[in-house]
Amino acid sequence: MKIPPVKGTRDFYPQEMAVRNWIIDGWKRVSVRNGFEEYDAPIFEYLKMFQIKSGDEIVEQLFSLTDRGGRELALRPEITPSLARMVNQRINSLPRPIKWFSVPRLFRAERPQKGRLREFFQWNVDIIGVDDVLADAEVIFCALDYLREVGLGRDDVVVKISSRQMLAALLRSVGVARSELEELYAVLDKRNKLPDDAFEEMLAEKIADEGKRRKVIDLMSVESIEQINELLELDETAQESVNELERLFELLGVMGVAEYCEFDIGIVRGLAYYTGIVYEIYDKASELRAIGGGGRYDDLLKQFGGPAIPATGFGIGDCVLAILLEDKGLLERQLPSRKLDYFVACVDKSYRQAAVELTMKLRSAGWTAGFSYKTAKLSKQLKEASDQKAKKCIIIGDEFKNRQLVVKDMATGEQETVDYDKFFSGLESKAR
Ligand code: HAM
Repeated sequence: MKIPPVKGTRDFYPQEMAVRNWIIDGWKRVSVRNGFEEYDAPIFEYLKMFQIKSGDEIVEQLFSLTDRGGRELALRPEITPSLARMVNQRINSLPRPIKWFSVPRLFRAERPQKGRLREFFQWNVDIIGVDDVLADAEVIFCALDYLREVGLGRDDVVVKISSRQMLAALLRSVGVARSELEELYAVLDKRNKLPDDAFEEMLAEKIADEGKRRKVIDLMSVESIEQINELLELDETAQESVNELERLFELLGVMGVAEYCEFDIGIVRGLAYYTGIVYEIYDKASELRAIGGGGRYDDLLKQFGGPAIPATGFGIGDCVLAILLEDKGLLERQLPSRKLDYFVACVDKSYRQAAVELTMKLRSAGWTAGFSYKTAKLSKQLKEASDQKAKKCIIIGDEFKNRQLVVKDMATGEQETVDYDKFFSGLESKAR
């Protein structure tokens, strides 16, 4: 009986594993250089943790289970609730600000499609304990620091930014009640993702009054921060959040990444816990789903039973990112190929043991080295060496009786006979 992989999951053969590792190594390197420390949490948590404040969409996509003790659990669809739980648990002993990152394996029962799977990896970068918009700018910079490092320029990616606090104030000014906001966000979040008529139909389910609905649609068509000032009389909260957005763009300019960022009132975010600045990262051609998204969630720690502590951060998944890097030819160009430093061949069976011993000696000195499992003809072993992309091939033959080795450079084809002890004393000084 053949058992296929589960829908929406991936097998990582060495080739795919190399891509995954390369992406994740980059995420970790960039996080560390931006001053973040790594954390992790369990892969499953209490189901109710994700029902508190993540929003209906995520709850509908949960993989849940009941353990043998009757506890209702779920595989984590995101790590932000676990982060809030962990920080709350040690709130009095953790030095603030908390600048943490993580690369969790996540699970969402989404309809599998290009860039969206049921199991994926997500880079999370969060700052807890800072209410200044400087923290939002810093995490956005961190995302762009990585994207730039892997070669994605401003013609490839864009960070679309808005503010939920501003949107809330504006929606209230056109007659939307505070209690209606949360449900409305889930619909407005779909505006850029759905055709106009489908979006308007969804909106009509939430706002029956046509006049009010029209005002919301007009509001969602605003193209710049200046236009908001022209269109509406801003109350104090709206003005405050407009000022905050302007300061964010100014800081992104200071950080040298303004050209990657633009205002987009259509960015609302699907998750329920965001309270302020929100953003999503897209490919510039808008052909793919979001590369990442994040924002400020100043109430989440309190909702998880802790004190009111401001927080901000983002998540970037590995799926869309890998598609984009592949499309731009950036994977092929940068992915380190597997290479052996040395392949040890022997001219006949009698030197086999010597070949194994020499390989182990090379490995102990820190070099990548291999040998053939077969004692085929030397030409076949040399072919194996080249298949394994060995830089050099050491050939053990009759010279070995005089403690000499033949070292062949696989790129140039040049061969030299070297003294065994000299070879190793030279090597040791080069060993990493
Ligand atoms: P999110 O927008 O749900 O945010 O996910 C962020 C990113 O994770 C998406 O833009 C996408 O790249 C990736 N992602 C999400 N679902 C899938 C999927 N089914 N398959 C592949 N990739 C996916 C969050 O999860 C927030 N917790 C991020 C955050 C951290 N906000 C503050 N701190």
